Amino acid sequence: MAVKWCLAPIDFICYHCALLSSEERIFMELEMEAKKLIDKLELEHKLDKDEWISLLDSCSDEVREYAAEKARAVAQSVYGNDVFIRGIVEFSNVCKNDCYYCGIRAGNCNLERYKLTEEDILQCCKAGYRYGFRTFVLQSGEDLSYTTEDICRIVSRIKSEFPDCAVTLSIGEKSREDYAAYKEAGADRYLLRHETANKAHYEKLHPDEMSWDNRMRCLRDLKELGFQTGCGIMVGSPYQTTECIADDMIFMSEFKPEMIGIGPFLPHKDTPFKDEPKGSYEMTLFLLSLCRLMLPHVLLPATTALGTIRPDGREQGVMSGANVIMPNLSPTEVRDKYMLYDNKICTGDASDKCHDCVEARMKLIGYRVVVDRGDYRV
Ligand code: 5AD
Ligand code: FES
Repeated sequence: MAVKWCLAPIDFICYHCALLSSEERIFMELEMEAKKLIDKLELEHKLDKDEWISLLDSCSDEVREYAAEKARAVAQSVYGNDVFIRGIVEFSNVCKNDCYYCGIRAGNCNLERYKLTEEDILQCCKAGYRYGFRTFVLQSGEDLSYTTEDICRIVSRIKSEFPDCAVTLSIGEKSREDYAAYKEAGADRYLLRHETANKAHYEKLHPDEMSWDNRMRCLRDLKELGFQTGCGIMVGSPYQTTECIADDMIFMSEFKPEMIGIGPFLPHKDTPFKDEPKGSYEMTLFLLSLCRLMLPHVLLPATTALGTIRPDGREQGVMSGANVIMPNLSPTEVRDKYMLYDNKICTGDASDKCHDCVEARMKLIGYRVVVDRGDYRV
């Protein structure tokens, strides 16, 4: 087989290449193959499973930078230099579930639980509006003490007090009827990470009471009901293989979410996965770029987990194709109680400080935080 690893004619071995070891040549050839797959993804917006596995397995710095450069250009062509911000209000850390990775799981007895009142939530939004937020994300554990009516009332109060704002819910698995009621009350978007598109993998991350089929049913319902719908994964979650990530990419290329949440898995000291290694920072950035190339219009946050694993993680996320940042709007007193993983950033900061910090960080890399709902652009 003729091995071609530089731009010299096929039957000519250049001086530089002749000095390479056979391992280096194989490595360069793999990088060239990976770049071709990135070009194909950019053009066709999909790859088959073998291609995904081959691409994901060749995440070198050079390949990652190649994908990031293209992803940045694609994000630029759809959203320009704008970065959308969403204010997250973590209104309850009570959760009925026991996901093995999550710090607010029901089984964690070392955690003081809190619930914000309707008035507290409205106050957070009021402050957020002043800082320039035009999307509020209401996030909580699966806390059944807030009834469907409670959630609907909170959503419609926010919508009537701030008619130029979008409301995103991130409150877990519910019935189709509940989702329809939230939509009717005015909710615009819903975030529910699928966590993994591989059912066997899902079962290793969750106890028996939780079901992958129900998770997928929820996502289908949300989409059908007209929510801008977000799914997503943790990178490097325990038992995740390259094949799992390939399944995730194929699932997302078919589901076509309007939003994708991707961050590294980070262990939490009071969970069964406390001794598991962190996910890879580099692989997270690579996947952000590949998601942007696969779904050019997708709303793609540079997540808090990415900012936790590296001090400049969110900036690097945006440089890799992300276009959303979700600073915290929760009252400072409760922030350190919404610890999904250890060492979460911004838990000691007031909301205005988080907003200004994000704005300054984006400015430094040539991006602009905008006062805008930041809807999905078709
Ligand atoms: N590390 C990283 N992300 C986590 N999440 C939950 N626990 C962790 C963790 N230990 C993510 C899950 C969940 C979202 C709200 O936070 O993907 O869907
Ligand atoms: Fe709360 Fe999983 S532990 S959703």
